[in-house]
Amino acid sequence: MRMRNKNQKSSAFHCSAGTRCSVSLVLCLVACILMVHFYSLIHQNDKGEIHIDSSHLSVTRELEEEESLYLPRPRGKKSPRALKRRGPRKLPSMVNEFLDESSELHALFFPDRKSAIDPNKKGNDSRFYYPGRLWLDTEGNPIQAHGGGILFDERTETYYWYGENKDGPTYHAHQKAAARVDIIGVSCYSSKDLWEWTNEGIVLSGEGTNATHDLHVSNVLERPKVIYNDKSGQYVMWMHIDDANYTKASVGVAVSDSPTGPFSYLYRIRPHGFESRDMTIFKDDDGKAYLIYSSESNSELHIGPLIDDYLNVARVGRRILVGRHREAPALFKYEGTYYMITSGCTGWAPNRALVHAAESIMGPWETMGNPCVGGNKIFRSTTFFAQSTFVVPLPGLPGSFIFMADRWKPAELRDSRYVWLPLTVGGVADEPLEYNFGFPSWSRVSIYWHRRWRLPEEWRRTT
Ligand code: GAL
Repeated sequence: MRMRNKNQKSSAFHCSAGTRCSVSLVLCLVACILMVHFYSLIHQNDKGEIHIDSSHLSVTRELEEEESLYLPRPRGKKSPRALKRRGPRKLPSMVNEFLDESSELHALFFPDRKSAIDPNKKGNDSRFYYPGRLWLDTEGNPIQAHGGGILFDERTETYYWYGENKDGPTYHAHQKAAARVDIIGVSCYSSKDLWEWTNEGIVLSGEGTNATHDLHVSNVLERPKVIYNDKSGQYVMWMHIDDANYTKASVGVAVSDSPTGPFSYLYRIRPHGFESRDMTIFKDDDGKAYLIYSSESNSELHIGPLIDDYLNVARVGRRILVGRHREAPALFKYEGTYYMITSGCTGWAPNRALVHAAESIMGPWETMGNPCVGGNKIFRSTTFFAQSTFVVPLPGLPGSFIFMADRWKPAELRDSRYVWLPLTVGGVADEPLEYNFGFPSWSRVSIYWHRRWRLPEEWRRTT
């Protein structure tokens, strides 16, 4: 047997046996084909823009939907000599471009009013959702319901969408503080079809004068959610209450006799004595409700039942997803299993969603991976440039839901957009799970990217 020297190692053609030579040739051919394919995916058009045609990157039917992204050239001079010296300049990261108001890419994610979803447009009976476009209410004003959630009210057979009204100037309280808008209050919109929304006004207002009040305009009110208490007949709102530096880290509670308010603010608490930042509440089929909140500097989530009147937490609570640094929880239930979508903790910047599942709401919770499907890789790794806030059940379509997310615009928070997409539970989970040796016991949760979509007729409640 001949010994291979160093040179032979790097050259596929220096081989002694004919078979080894032909294997190398086949490998070479495959590599060439792959390279040609790669170049056909990413090419420059005549405007010098880099065109990533994700339809070629598709792995499912959803991916085959035409989805193109034009990434503008990085700004600044680029002399051929400079290019030779330093090599091609690294493209700015897609997320930075997305956040940079002056970038062309930014405008693509926040299209202007011309393309707005407008229920009053003549002949507009389309009921199409266009994630990321400006969405107008029945009076023609942009909907202001960020970090929101939806309540279906059985008594009025109406959907109510509650969310942060951020229709004020964006500023930084100090150099290191996150971009913010003063508390204006919680908006409420009503709808029969989940598409055409009527403004019901601000149902819980910010406090203008008393600087010690939790709702003083200089504080933070985020992620309001409302559930109905069948026993007390009250609508109960829970929300994240904080100061501009996010050190108060509490939850606030408010109540009303009507879904359209006004809500009376009761108090803020630190649930179970712990910090609470991003949060949500979930009402189970048996009428029991739960609070889920990010705690311990957002390193873990806590979950605990509310007491019967929903105005406080019961004494019991559990730590879940410990050390995982998740926030923006959105819970839903299907066929007895609890599911939760969360985001990573990167402030207003988008990041990868994860879906978790549990047999019992109190845990243990298992992580199933990224539910986002379609669009392209960048879309999937940024939750379609958005962050989870709520999941709406569709009673006529078992296993189908609407995933609600916020596409934040930290440069101008009032112009943040809504990304609503179909979510389905079905099929086998495709990522190994943590506690059961990789045998998936949960169904797959998929959130599908669509530039335009609408609900099928059967979605409505069948009573
Ligand atoms: C995010 C959070 C938002 C808001 C933001 C402020 O992490 O999900 O609700 O608090 O930070 O930077």
